[in-house]
Amino acid sequence: MIELKNISKSFNTGTPNEAKVFDNLNLILNEGDFVTVIGGNGAGKSTLINIISGSISPDEGKVLLNNANITNMKEHQRAPYFGRVFQDPMVGTAADMTVLENLALAYGRGRPRSLFRWSYRKSDIQTFIDDLKTLDLGLEKRLYQKVGLLSGGQRQALTLLMATIRNKPTYARIKKDYVRFSSGDKKAAQNVINQTFIEAKNNFIKTKNIIKANNSLTKEEKKKMHAEAFATYDKTIRAFDVTKPVLLLDEHTAALDPKTAEKVLQITERIVTENNLTTVMITHNMKDAIRYGNRLIMLSQGQIIADVTGEEKQKLTIETLLKLFVTNSKNDILSDSTILGN
Ligand SMILES: Nc1ncnc2c1ncn2[C@@H]1O[C@H](COP(=O)(O)OP(=O)(O)O)[C@@H](O)[C@H]1O
Ligand SMILES: [Mg+2]
Repeated sequence: MIELKNISKSFNTGTPNEAKVFDNLNLILNEGDFVTVIGGNGAGKSTLINIISGSISPDEGKVLLNNANITNMKEHQRAPYFGRVFQDPMVGTAADMTVLENLALAYGRGRPRSLFRWSYRKSDIQTFIDDLKTLDLGLEKRLYQKVGLLSGGQRQALTLLMATIRNKPTYARIKKDYVRFSSGDKKAAQNVINQTFIEAKNNFIKTKNIIKANNSLTKEEKKKMHAEAFATYDKTIRAFDVTKPVLLLDEHTAALDPKTAEKVLQITERIVTENNLTTVMITHNMKDAIRYGNRLIMLSQGQIIADVTGEEKQKLTIETLLKLFVTNSKNDILSDSTILGN
């Protein structure tokens, strides 16, 4: 869950160019919400996403992620919890690096700083191939090609993947985040997680010893049972991993031709739904804003002038959306492409 509380933000404060983007903005994004954001030019859509991701800090107010106050957390510290895709396909990927190296770089996000953050284990490659196959663009056959050779659509799809895959966090990290993002008493949470981890480990050791002592088993059988026991242990611990990346998309299909945009949107929807990711998708296209997600927010001059969810959202049409805009907006102008589609 993400909460924006009493957010105010101005640019160029105290100069003739002062622009007050938000004045006491409040917004709650629930876990698993797929929110489309629409609004005129300069309404504050990108600033909203920038404040969530930490690339811009608010002048006033708080940003909470799963109950933790992250307002003062630097952008790179927040990186493990957010995945971003921008409009420009050149931004999200490194052109001079191969598909594999780009994925490895993303996979290393939140890893301790190391000189070779893009280095990968052989065992990671199969994971990357499986991930790439889901895009259905044939990229799994182009692992060793430079990303600069890909089309804009392929690069955006790859960026999406990179924004959502994540290196398996260490047990220590799972523990730390469990406490950081717990809603209640931190001490109680710390006790729960400590206890659970100890029990899981003890169970694993116990099983391991039983297997070891069982002389009727062959070496192969022992190996297999040991692996199963470890998998159970690992699963128990990972069930406490409360961090899933929140996906932030800033007009990520706007630079693509309509057909490619459509394909990237479908990939987006599949990734979001399959992983139940909390997602904010800015779009200039009303049709897409209506078609995708479970919630639609309309921004005008930094204010939320419509917030439509569930069944009501499903029933939206471009006509009703336009009417809402005309009735509630603060004089901003929608671009033709917003009204007419791409
Ligand atoms: N880094 C910045 N410096 C100065 N003004 C900015 C900056 N970022 C955004 N703005 C201003 O804030 C307003 C909202 O911008 P933005 O969030 O990018 O709008 P949108 O994405 O809805 O088009 C605009 O008036 C814009 O000029
Ligand atoms: Mg913008």
